Amino acid sequence: MSKSWIRRGFNRVARIVGRAADPKKENFPVLEGHPVAQQHAEVAVETHDTVRKKDQVLKEFKIYRWSPDHLNNKPYLHSYFVDLSNCGPMKIKAEDDSSLSYRRSCREGICGSCSMNIDGTNTVACLRPINADTSKPTTITPLPHMFVIKDLVVDLTNFYQQYKLIEPWLKTTKPPKDGREYRQSPSDRIKLDGLYECILCACCTTSCPSYWWNPEEFLGPADLLHAYRWIADSRDEFTEPRLQALTDDHTRLYRCRTIKNCTATCPKSLNPADAINKMKTRHLVSTSRKG
Ligand code: SF4
Ligand code: SF4
Ligand code: FES
Repeated sequence: MSKSWIRRGFNRVARIVGRAADPKKENFPVLEGHPVAQQHAEVAVETHDTVRKKDQVLKEFKIYRWSPDHLNNKPYLHSYFVDLSNCGPMKIKAEDDSSLSYRRSCREGICGSCSMNIDGTNTVACLRPINADTSKPTTITPLPHMFVIKDLVVDLTNFYQQYKLIEPWLKTTKPPKDGREYRQSPSDRIKLDGLYECILCACCTTSCPSYWWNPEEFLGPADLLHAYRWIADSRDEFTEPRLQALTDDHTRLYRCRTIKNCTATCPKSLNPADAINKMKTRHLVSTSRKG
């Protein structure tokens, strides 16, 4: 975040003093407000520039491999060498090794399937450009602290069961006034920005130390962000029962220690830690009213 502010500041100063800033660094106004995407776009442009000037750019990818078909074999990192000057999506699986397993579907950051850890950061692979620095390999491993089913595919059963627990749908007691739909003012609708965009990729939840140590009890940042999405919805009539359900057992919500790994890693630039804090505040206000 701060890096992108510094960059934008530098570009503005460069314009004022008449020194042309590198145009490629400024060409993403459409991504304003989405710092992760801006950083990715910059890396993509740099990669494109590097590759364009050469006939062949060999990049090493070290990818985590483990198969339940060979239970006695330990997991290992397999090296694949890819020519970036002749490379598109799914290159390794399509051309080098069809046995490599990972989830994917939309290839544009919407379905949340392709989450994995790339060079130490949880992210969705389809939005992450390749770093063209060939002096070091790119290392790809499964989401951390999760049971591995095969290669980069992890078991998300607990994650989805917890999602079900927050009852992620609009709950009302009355039919809509016009008999057709529950309406919402634009100012109430804006309150859902930064919440509804979550794609349930689990990058945040699997980066959260509190979730690593308490995956059974603590709901984790993704599911809590979704819980707040419904609590913040002006049309939902179950705010109090929802807060009650989250706080009956103190570990579900309050295991969050505001470490903010979740916010730092979200590939959609969302802020689960902020949503959790707002939910804690709503709960404290509601408790003090009752008291
Ligand atoms: S802010 Fe809370 S939910 Fe996010 S990483 Fe930290 S402890 Fe986990
Ligand atoms: S908050 Fe971000 S990292 Fe977490 S599940 Fe949603 S999109 Fe993924
Ligand atoms: S394939 Fe859907 S988010 Fe990456």
